[in-house]
Amino acid sequence: MKKLINHALVMMKNAHAPYSKYKVGAAVLTEDETIIGGCNVESSSYGLTCCAERTALYTAVSEGHLSFKALAVVNKNGGSPCGACRQVIWDLCGNIPVYISDQYGIVREIKSKTLLPDAFDKNKLK
Ligand code: THU
Repeated sequence: MKKLINHALVMMKNAHAPYSKYKVGAAVLTEDETIIGGCNVESSSYGLTCCAERTALYTAVSEGHLSFKALAVVNKNGGSPCGACRQVIWDLCGNIPVYISDQYGIVREIKSKTLLPDAFDKNKLK
């Protein structure tokens, strides 16, 4: 998991956060052990901003991956994924461990089902 968290830390350095100044990096581990990263990318029209977690997951999907084992998120103070990202993590990853690290390397692990209990998902669309 060290490798995954370190990749997210590297991604955090690429964050484009001129408005909030809150840089976030994320990295996802695919079923075939590939690590794919992403950072938050902000827009002057704030609502168009894409969080690091979704950037990483959407990049992974666009590169042909659809099965994920773990996700790492790094930011300065160990902030956890926003509500929108929780939904996307659940939809694309199911119940995986999410490792959240602050800038000092203090890591906590939480399952995505704990982040989004009683989720709305594809089962409701049957
Ligand atoms: N942000 C993320 O990248 N991930 C989250 O789950 C929380 C929020 C970003 C969005 C915005 O660029 C900045 O952090 C402040 O909200």
